[in-house]
Amino acid sequence: MTIKPATKYPASVIFFHAVIGLLMIATLIFGWLLEENPDLEDWHKALGIAILFLGVIRMLNRLRTKSQIPASLNAKGTLQFVAEKTVHGLLYLVMFSTPLLGWLLVSAQAEPIGFFGLFEVPALMAENESLTRTLKHLHELSANVFFGLVLLHVAGALLHHIKHKGGVFKRIMPF
Ligand code: HEM
Ligand code: HEM
Repeated sequence: MTIKPATKYPASVIFFHAVIGLLMIATLIFGWLLEENPDLEDWHKALGIAILFLGVIRMLNRLRTKSQIPASLNAKGTLQFVAEKTVHGLLYLVMFSTPLLGWLLVSAQAEPIGFFGLFEVPALMAENESLTRTLKHLHELSANVFFGLVLLHVAGALLHHIKHKGGVFKRIMPF
């Protein structure tokens, strides 16, 4: 009996891609609006912390389902293949670095971080005023890199969809 190669991502990968993707885009937009709407700050911080923890579960689930992941639609060794894998890898990186830098920033400012009124998230480091400027810049940089990567990621998927007449979205979209 021959085993048919997978053509769709496992349901759990589809679930985490959609939930974390939407949460990250919402948190990014909240971040952009923070200056004019400081009351969004509690939501921004709590959503960011949720992304960090969901990201760990997503990563573990991705490793668990490694053998069920469909092969890339791009041929191995092509520029498109390298670009796709690089953007996916970097998206995983900023999914962790952006909220982690935010958490470090707020810890250095000795500000509280509530989690939707349920509990208080502990500080990652002691108050450190001299580090806050650097952490602010790094948090903003990581968020901007995330935005650039999402644009590349969506443009790549759309190009693939147009050039190869569909298929790519069906592999990972919940509907
Ligand atoms: C905004 C709308 C988005 C669209 C339309 C979209 C589309 C897609 C598509 C079509 C694939 C499947 C590629 C394939 O067939 O191999 C994919 C995979 C992937 N996407 Fe997205 N995506 C979006 C947002 C995001 C965001 C915000 C992130 C990061 C937080 C992300 C991270 C990934 C990763 C890492 C994969 C590879 C599968 C995995 O290892 O989980 N995507 N995306
Ligand atoms: C994926 C998660 C996150 C994204 C995409 C994100 C994105 C952003 C963006 C775009 C800004 C505005 C930057 C600027 O233009 O100055 C911002 C600001 C900020 N973020 Fe985040 N953030 C995330 C997670 C977090 C977390 C987890 C915390 C803290 C627990 C946090 C705390 C802050 C604070 C305090 C500011 C205001 C910084 C300032 O005073 O300029 N963020 N964030």
